[in-house]
Amino acid sequence: MNVLCFAGSTRAESLNKKVLKLAEAELQRLGVTVDSFDLTDASVPVFLDDLVQAGKIPQPVLDLKERVRKADAVLICTPEYNYSVPGPLKNLLDWLSRPPKDNPFKGKLTAQMGVTGGMGGTLQAQNALRHVLGVALFAWVLPGPAYTWAKVMDKLDPSGAFKEAADQKQLADFIERLVGELKKG
Ligand SMILES: Cc1cc2nc3c(=O)[nH]c(=O)nc-3n(C[C@H](O)[C@H](O)[C@H](O)COP(=O)(O)O)c2cc1C
Repeated sequence: MNVLCFAGSTRAESLNKKVLKLAEAELQRLGVTVDSFDLTDASVPVFLDDLVQAGKIPQPVLDLKERVRKADAVLICTPEYNYSVPGPLKNLLDWLSRPPKDNPFKGKLTAQMGVTGGMGGTLQAQNALRHVLGVALFAWVLPGPAYTWAKVMDKLDPSGAFKEAADQKQLADFIERLVGELKKG
């Protein structure tokens, strides 16, 4: 089993990237191969449909499409920006979704996570992302709630690990839910 993982934040010190690393370690603990994609401000250009129409989709987009296609599932850990999905993540999904006949998310299992330093917990970003993945891109979104944490900074030690075993267990339970769904085929 192979899971493609990426965060919806472009920040190097992203809390979502840190918690995604913990999730990746849980996947590996369960014998899953992790393919980690690091979204940065330079990963892909701003979406331009003219390039899609001209058959000139940028190579980094084509490469990532292939990685989505090869993955048994895609795990996205995203912050919330202005009660929705961060623009860079939406931009990436827009690129990957075109042209519609070459949408690698069709029928793909996807799972969602998100953390904030503040009180929000990313719930509205998760709903927006679920809508894009499940409705527009025809993905199979993991049933049940996304894994979300508010005030996550208080929960991580300087090395980026959870201070409390109970918090680590909640993450492990979520990853086990994802792997359980993967095993159903
Ligand atoms: C443009 C912008 C909009 C934001 N909007 C929200 C929001 O709607 N809800 C929320 O909980 N946090 C919001 N935040 C705060 C982010 O949750 C916080 O910056 C978080 O640490 C970003 O995730 P990262 O550390 O993975 O980059 C916003 C931050 C930015 C930069």
